Amino acid sequence: MTRKNFYITTPIYYPSDNLHIGHAYTTVAADTIARYKRMTGYDTWFLTGSDEHGQKIQRTAKSKGMEPKQYVDKIVEGFKQLWGALDISYNDFIRTTEARHKEVVQDIFVKLHQQGDIYKSEYEGWYCTPCETFWTERQAEGQVCPDCGRPVELVKEESYFFKMSKYADRLLKYIEDNPEFIQPVSRRNEMTNFIKQGLEDLCVTRTTFDWGIPVPFDPKHVIYVWVDALSNYYSALAGGQPDDTLVNKYWPCDIHLVGKDIVRFHTIIWPIILMALGIELPKKVVGHGWLLLEGGKMSKSKGNVIDPIILIEKYGLDAIRYYLLRELPFGADGYYSEDILVQRINSDLANDLGNLVSRSVAMVEKYFGGKVQPATESGDFDQDLQKVAASVIDDYEQSMEKYELSNALGSVWRLINRANKYIDETVPWILAKDESKQVRLGCVLYNLMEVIRIVTIMVSPFMPKLPDRIWEQVGLAGSEVVSWNSIKPWGGYPAGTQVKRGAALFPRIEIETDEKEIKSKAKPEAKQEAKPEGKQTAEVASVDEKQKNYISIDEFVKIDLRVAEVISAEKVEKADKLLKLVVAVGAEQRTVVAGIAKHYAPEALIGKKIIIVANLKPTKLRGILSEGMILAASEGENLGVLTVDPDKEVPTGAKAK
Ligand code: MSP
Repeated sequence: MTRKNFYITTPIYYPSDNLHIGHAYTTVAADTIARYKRMTGYDTWFLTGSDEHGQKIQRTAKSKGMEPKQYVDKIVEGFKQLWGALDISYNDFIRTTEARHKEVVQDIFVKLHQQGDIYKSEYEGWYCTPCETFWTERQAEGQVCPDCGRPVELVKEESYFFKMSKYADRLLKYIEDNPEFIQPVSRRNEMTNFIKQGLEDLCVTRTTFDWGIPVPFDPKHVIYVWVDALSNYYSALAGGQPDDTLVNKYWPCDIHLVGKDIVRFHTIIWPIILMALGIELPKKVVGHGWLLLEGGKMSKSKGNVIDPIILIEKYGLDAIRYYLLRELPFGADGYYSEDILVQRINSDLANDLGNLVSRSVAMVEKYFGGKVQPATESGDFDQDLQKVAASVIDDYEQSMEKYELSNALGSVWRLINRANKYIDETVPWILAKDESKQVRLGCVLYNLMEVIRIVTIMVSPFMPKLPDRIWEQVGLAGSEVVSWNSIKPWGGYPAGTQVKRGAALFPRIEIETDEKEIKSKAKPEAKQEAKPEGKQTAEVASVDEKQKNYISIDEFVKIDLRVAEVISAEKVEKADKLLKLVVAVGAEQRTVVAGIAKHYAPEALIGKKIIIVANLKPTKLRGILSEGMILAASEGENLGVLTVDPDKEVPTGAKAK
């Protein structure tokens, strides 16, 4: 059987400065997809790199008294260190200053010029140096860059132009004929609207600086950044190679993963260059959302960038990767918060996953001297555990195939939580007290080992260091049953295996929260107030009552509240209280059935941004699968759905907290 091939790329990053956690997000997401593809049998090629030319880099280097190449060498070294620290499994790292890249870019330019798609003219336009982008008068309204808001300069120079306009209709048709090409759908709509407004020919050379690839037949011009940069995806396969093996094997690219700000370049300029060259177009461009801070964008000038290296040192590589991929629904923006990061570590990783492994291994050691017994019978709750495991594997696979990484992790945690509940249901410590229940106890512990095996395989693309640590504890280091191929059917864990407890997978992080302060303050007061039994005053009773109802922050973060936008709403037949809503939650669409028909006409809800509980177990209501619950407040006959402040641009998929 021939192996299937898969080619994935990240954007090539500007070495104008060190990278921050937002850049790390793109690369970690691409790495997880690449690892998943390798795990599922694809011959995978994963490319990343650096975009080293342009005026901004030249100016920055000069301001530091360095040559551009000397400056970028240093920064690019830092990129590679960061990718090493994040365990990024790239196959190739392309630098646009390499000869193999230069050669391909010059060939492309000459070919397009020879066939009349590149012509010489004069350019006058508004240029944003930090973004390296030209804007038209209309776009640069108020003489500021529409992307970054910084002032633009009026530039006039002899330039070469690329005939984008000639290909606009063909591109539009391509996008319409290939609905999968641009993901998510919202970005596809944005792009088609943009093209329909008409494409102007693109200025593709500059003469005002020389830090770039020269036009071979007119070397006072350097090839302007997007033609140079975008070509990396092809030059990395074609340049400096003895033959076409890499191109034949991996082109067309399966997925260009990019941030939302550069979707336009990848879905308009790049496909048109390829069309003009007669090269097949990439199969998919996925535009992900941005990692924002409460105060807006992360930027060096604002002094608010988050350094991933510091976070890795503080919390560990797997935890950071998990947080990034769990927190941002694919396609949507999300907010970075160290508090939530710590809560995720304590709740999902230490409590849910870490405890499942340590409790299970400890019980096998305590009750069976560390040897896992065979599951020779099936008892209560076993069927359900197996059913959840099978459906989670399917859901995980479906989400991974759609690159919905956060949903895939959500599915895995459904199984982890089910297994923790299984421990509470089967109460192994009680079975252990009864000699006649030994076989049953062995089955329960076997089932837990099997869940741990399945879960560990699924999390391995996300947390690359973790599996070895788990395999060590559950006795599967070097075993064949840790591969994706053996994830099904149930029962792959070999009975008779010896387990061995190890260090906690994710030690809990102590949080200095208000909650802790409240607790430490509350205790002595409670002591002072203590009264002999039966003589408590009403005041003390009510304090106790309130404390009973407290939940910890760990419990609260388990409720996944998300901003959702209502796309459609209709009445549910023969149910006068129910409305069926379809809502967008980031890149995803969900159906939610809500008992609000008496309070809202369906059309009044469309376009509203509401809050839903996104991790509530889906349930069927009147035959419709409801995948979430909307939040509403009511008293008596008055009911209002909770909406997000319409004056603020909070994106769908954002977490409510
Ligand atoms: N050099 C160009 C890309 C050329 S690709 C042919 C470039 N470089 S960049 O360094 O500015 O950005 C690289 C990527 O990082 C972009 O996809 C961008 O969206 C992403 N991010 C930058 N800040 C980000 C966040 N705060 N959050 C998520 N991604 C972010 O553009």
